[in-house]
Amino acid sequence: MEKESGLDTNNLKLIFRHISDLIFLIRVVDLQHYEIEAINEGYLAHYQTTKKNISGKRIEEFLGVDQGIKAIRRFQEVIIRKETLHFEEAYTFPEQGYRMFDITLVPIIEENTVANLIGTAKDITEKRINEEQMVQSEKLSVVGQLAAGIGHELKNPLTSLKGFLKLIDSENSNQDIERYIKVMDTEFNRIEQIIDEFLILAKPNKIHFSHYRIDHIIEEVIELLNAQANMESIVLTTEYPDIPSQVYCENNQLKQVFINIIKNAIEASRDGGRIFIKIATNEEHIQVSIRDHGEGISQEDIDKLGSPFYTTKKNGTGLGLAICKRIIDKHKGRLQIDSSVGQGTEITVILPINFT
Ligand SMILES: Nc1ncnc2c1ncn2[C@@H]1O[C@H](COP(=O)(O)OP(=O)(O)OP(=O)(O)O)[C@@H](O)[C@H]1O
Ligand SMILES: [Mg+2]
Repeated sequence: MEKESGLDTNNLKLIFRHISDLIFLIRVVDLQHYEIEAINEGYLAHYQTTKKNISGKRIEEFLGVDQGIKAIRRFQEVIIRKETLHFEEAYTFPEQGYRMFDITLVPIIEENTVANLIGTAKDITEKRINEEQMVQSEKLSVVGQLAAGIGHELKNPLTSLKGFLKLIDSENSNQDIERYIKVMDTEFNRIEQIIDEFLILAKPNKIHFSHYRIDHIIEEVIELLNAQANMESIVLTTEYPDIPSQVYCENNQLKQVFINIIKNAIEASRDGGRIFIKIATNEEHIQVSIRDHGEGISQEDIDKLGSPFYTTKKNGTGLGLAICKRIIDKHKGRLQIDSSVGQGTEITVILPINFT
């Protein structure tokens, strides 16, 4: 048998010496005392530990008193239970420093007593560090996305506030009010700056689905965005069906979808452009299309739309369409994008009227 598997003494010695995990044989003197009978030096040599004669030493001499006691507790557990023990434990060595090990202790039972223990210890320090870093970076990216999403949603109402302020400013001739407007403008800019620099982390509002008239949702969005459109002499025109339709939705989220899409349309349009917003319905679906005559999007770039942080704008966060997609998904709907460079873009939101 031994020959067949090639495990003669020389080969065993070779394996024992060079294997990179720590393998050791412990002699159980009594429940309190343990000696290292053999230890492979492969692992230790990896750290250029000078070849010390560890064999025959008490466990405390190798690990130090405190760590020795820690190891002895484990040995005792194996002896009392007469079972293999598997655990993870950290040890610190003068040359290697802090290392985390995945340890297995196997009792060798002779005449019903544990005479020896065989241990293997795999150094998992790097693995653990990598895992922790991964968890950390995942956490960070979730937090980052949340914060960015909320920051983004704050920007829209802020933009309309700034728009209204500009309107008031242009129609005002009162010196006192002029001063207030200046203060408000500075404050608004400050808010915007804070949002930009530190995107606030907060819990999203509770979502509440109900039936809402789609034309009312669009009207509210237009009211919000008209100020921004007016500033750039862009006209928003609408076309609604004769019979109003209701959609089962979370109205604030759906508003957010149309705000983001119409804002993009405004940003893509030249001064004096026109944006058409059309609602069409059939028995199952409501379609809202937003068409602009702006710069358009190349076929290649259409595929990138909706991935978080994809933006071609200097001050864009690239979250507008990603948020839209997420919300539309929740409504079991879909987003259709038709565009050609130089001609303009049509974005259609298709929503089921009812879904469970
Ligand atoms: N109507 C449109 N016309 C042309 N390009 C568009 C249009 N809508 C979206 N895009 C392109 O898609 C990109 C991503 O849009 P998205 O709304 O996700 O982010 P953004 O507008 O760049 O930034 P923000 O987070 O401020 O909305 C834009 O940068 C732009 O290149
Ligand atoms: Mg956008």
